Amino acid sequence: MKNTDAPAHVRGESVYLDDLPLLQGTLFACVYDSPVAHGVLNHIDLVEALKTPGVVRIITAKHLIGENQIGGIIADEPLLADGHVHFQGMPIALVLAESDEAAREAAKKIKADITPLEIITDPRIACAKNELIIPPKRFRLGDPAAAFGRCDYVYEGRADVNGQEHLYIETQGAYTVPMEGGGIKVYSSTQAPTAVQRAVSKVTGLPMHRIEVEVGRLGGGFGGKEDQANPWAALCAVATQLTKRPVKYSLHRMEDMRMTGKRHPYSADYKIGLDKNFKILAYEAVFYQNAGAAADLSPAVLERTLFHCTNAYFIPNVAATAYSCRTNLPPNTAFRGFGGPQGMFVIESAIAHAAEQLKAPASIIQQANLLKTGDEFPYGQKAESEAENSWLQAERHFDFEKLRQEVEAFNAENTFFKRGLAFMPICFGISFTKTAMNQARALVHVYTDGSVAVSTGAVEMGQGVNTKMQQVAAQIFGIPADMVKIHTTNTLRIANTSPSAASATADLNGKAVEMACRAILERLDRVRAGMGAVGAGASPAPTAPDLQNWQTTVNAAYLQRISLSEHAHYATPSVHFDWETAKGHPFAYHVYGLAAFQVTLDCLRGRYEVDFVKTVHDFGTSMNTAVDFGQIEGGIVQGVGWMTMEELVYDAAGKLRSNALSTYKIPDIYAVPKQIDIEPLVTDRENLAIFNSKAVGEPPLLYGIGAYFAIRNAVQAFNGSVSPACDAPFTPEKVLMNLYAAHEKEPGIVDVYRKAAENR
Ligand code: MOS
Repeated sequence: MKNTDAPAHVRGESVYLDDLPLLQGTLFACVYDSPVAHGVLNHIDLVEALKTPGVVRIITAKHLIGENQIGGIIADEPLLADGHVHFQGMPIALVLAESDEAAREAAKKIKADITPLEIITDPRIACAKNELIIPPKRFRLGDPAAAFGRCDYVYEGRADVNGQEHLYIETQGAYTVPMEGGGIKVYSSTQAPTAVQRAVSKVTGLPMHRIEVEVGRLGGGFGGKEDQANPWAALCAVATQLTKRPVKYSLHRMEDMRMTGKRHPYSADYKIGLDKNFKILAYEAVFYQNAGAAADLSPAVLERTLFHCTNAYFIPNVAATAYSCRTNLPPNTAFRGFGGPQGMFVIESAIAHAAEQLKAPASIIQQANLLKTGDEFPYGQKAESEAENSWLQAERHFDFEKLRQEVEAFNAENTFFKRGLAFMPICFGISFTKTAMNQARALVHVYTDGSVAVSTGAVEMGQGVNTKMQQVAAQIFGIPADMVKIHTTNTLRIANTSPSAASATADLNGKAVEMACRAILERLDRVRAGMGAVGAGASPAPTAPDLQNWQTTVNAAYLQRISLSEHAHYATPSVHFDWETAKGHPFAYHVYGLAAFQVTLDCLRGRYEVDFVKTVHDFGTSMNTAVDFGQIEGGIVQGVGWMTMEELVYDAAGKLRSNALSTYKIPDIYAVPKQIDIEPLVTDRENLAIFNSKAVGEPPLLYGIGAYFAIRNAVQAFNGSVSPACDAPFTPEKVLMNLYAAHEKEPGIVDVYRKAAENR
């Protein structure tokens, strides 16, 4: 089954927030945001702005009726600056005007008198000054101190990994409409309708039942609209409350890039210890997370860094510590992988370091330490591992030995082009690590014509969740997919939703749809039994009735006054976690896989191309390979972008320099790997996924880390004396510096080339 949204997307018929028809009297909003990263806000001068034709009103912190607070995990984030500013891009005032142009024109005329304070952008400096969002978090397994004493080889180093701009195609935005009696209807481009409802409730002082949040679909989220959709909805809602008019705000790209947080940059120290057989006996890591100016989701992201700090390896002795460091950058937030990728980059850096010192390919260390079923993660859960299966199937299927020989042959024949090969095993835990969030609800109505309407808490953001929900209902009822319509996500139909995040959306909401459909089907089966029809009797796996039988039964049920509607609730069984002991069973299951990356490096220019990514991926049993393969391809490209060309630059004043698509380079069609092979892992193991089809949202991004190490290997094939710092992304500039790093004192570039030619 294809993604059901595809035809409307291709024809431009899909409706996004900015496509909504506007009601008469709609006002347009624009934020005036702080030009200073840290300071005392003495005065806001609105005089000139208010004179701008079309301006209706300008709102500042003092006008709020409710609380000036939108912090989710920690109440540390004002909606509008009050007394202080903490990052460049922090909202200070909201202009409301009769047109979008007038609002933006007026915002430019606002002036703020700010006394500057010290600006911190480096998480290590923030940590040294004890600027922490929460106390440090720690994971511990075995006895690392003693184990290091038993190691034959011990290596220590540092790894740095930069953040990433989400660059969802649809920018952030909201549209709020006043309802009878003072309620507010909120259209929002959010992954988290309930989080928006809660934030709007707080800033307006209205109870949640007076606020309806409606989400049609998103033009991408990637985590960037998990908590960071809240401010725009909250600002519009406050404006609607104060003016009693509909208010729209759809951010321009540069506003969005400047004002929103991104993937967290991390700096880390590691220590890795191995025995003679390359078994990793001990691992220590200290992570410094650059949280930005407020908590946002940083504490939860920090936790996932720890959960994934040993990737797909079993290490019996682990000590990992993570600091969430407060800096004067926009609050960093969820981004596909949610801190996990940063943790994995550090262990892969440690392994690359060890491999270099031991003059062995990293793959030998990687393979020697893969998780086995029954192995314990540092957080206490026992693995049901597919790590070795993934590796072995990939090795067979893609013939690693041949790949290695081809790279060696190429490198022996070429002086100024070098190839690098790297392998990237992955392991990603599926479930929200906050156990309470692992719940979902679905509302299913069967109408008397036999057609079916489904609502869930899942938000469609291009990932194809609606297609999967449609499949679930159609399959359980045994009817064609086009008889099922998946409706918008709306807090009146489905309450208390968890965000569409953590890769868990299809599982949680799909299971709820499955339960609702089965409950209705059981009733229909009883009706059918009364009618004496074939296939009577409730069955857990019903055979598909033909369509006429379905319609007849539905009608009969209605006439017998049997309910054709169901609201079901699903909660993931068996998950729990205790932060007192930092042990538990946080994940319903893990997703595994292995990717082989090859890059070709142009050693004169420092440019590279990804020749191929060959992956064996653990889908469980994919319920929709069109959707799932799309997620793998997109995830790999996004991961490669993060590791190679996407360079987030904040200057010392906390100003985002890479603030547009001209200065922030994301993968285009030319940067996409020339070949992406996806082989499903052959496995028949049962799991807790919907229809046994494992979560596929975040895991494939992790493969992208392989691109970094493939490039690193190619650099070392050209310049054997360089040991490139593990400092992602590996931009062409950094590659070039490393290619010639050890030859700095040579008289001229020609000699460098001559020397390289001699070396071969
Ligand atoms: Mo996702 S990074 O869990 O919104």
